[in-house]
Amino acid sequence: MSEIHPADTRRICIDASYICFKYYHRVTEHTENVLEVRGMVHPLPDLSPPTFVICFLCGLRDEAYFRWRTIYEKPKMRWTQQHYEQFETQGFLFVPGLFATEELLRLNEITPELLLGDDLLDGMHRERERGGAVRQVYLAHRHSPPFKALSEDARIVDPVKQILDSEIYIWHSKINVKDAFEGTVWLWHQDYGYWMWDGVEPKLVSVMVLLDEATINNGCLLVAAGTHKWGRLEHEADERTTSYKQWCVDREILKERLTEAMIQPVIGKPGDVLFFDCNLLHGSGHNMSPLPRKTFIVAYNDLTNRPRPVENVRPDWVVSRKFEAVSGS
Ligand code: SIN
Ligand code: MN
Repeated sequence: MSEIHPADTRRICIDASYICFKYYHRVTEHTENVLEVRGMVHPLPDLSPPTFVICFLCGLRDEAYFRWRTIYEKPKMRWTQQHYEQFETQGFLFVPGLFATEELLRLNEITPELLLGDDLLDGMHRERERGGAVRQVYLAHRHSPPFKALSEDARIVDPVKQILDSEIYIWHSKINVKDAFEGTVWLWHQDYGYWMWDGVEPKLVSVMVLLDEATINNGCLLVAAGTHKWGRLEHEADERTTSYKQWCVDREILKERLTEAMIQPVIGKPGDVLFFDCNLLHGSGHNMSPLPRKTFIVAYNDLTNRPRPVENVRPDWVVSRKFEAVSGS
């Protein structure tokens, strides 16, 4: 058994953030009996009010015996009017450091297991590259508690509700994986390019949380600023480029309308988050780097925007039929 040394801030930091994340909703109830103080101050990311979680760890780590006291206020995502205006103008908003790196540790710890899992056993749905590597894992928000917590976090949910001016439910979620050297492209598309055929209005917003560092070399997402204002473009199915049938915008339309100046790479660190409109044109290149690129994307739909009956009803993993409001704060 090893005792946590007060100077071992990194280790304490990891443990503390895990506690904060795991017991996020219960943390204020545990305020009694601080026996011994070996703590850290864990500042929450930008855009939160000046809030601190102070964790006091007592006893021996291997017995997992923790007590803590908190001076705590549930972190809130506070967008200013300017943030909403930026979202409206560009069709997206990038928020660096919305989640602390430590909050992502638990997710990154369990992700390899999720990738190896079996659809029949765990209820999730996986898509693969031609070479066999997992390209996407759908439904982690239902079957994996840490991903569920992330998809319901107020820092994401509150601004999405504000943007859509409504209650919301989860349309779908996916862990998008681009393995080193193997992860392949996403052709230019608007998410609503296909979602229209699912029988809904364009009242959806997606949120992408970076799980790995995203770089030009490992195929970071590319967004084309302002293109959501074009409305929905005609899409066609591409079944040749990757293992996955992709609905993408015709190249002739792209040549006419898309300019180099509009394209912005979404480069960032784990915990950075991109909010984007369902009509925003986006795509990404092949992963040419030795580093993987994983993201968690959750799409939220206006609760009143339930799919109308359509000819081609897609499965529940991609068009959810769980119309449960996600409340946020
Ligand atoms: C998507 O548009 O769903 C995927 C884009 C990406 O992962 O690069
Ligand atoms: Mn997309």
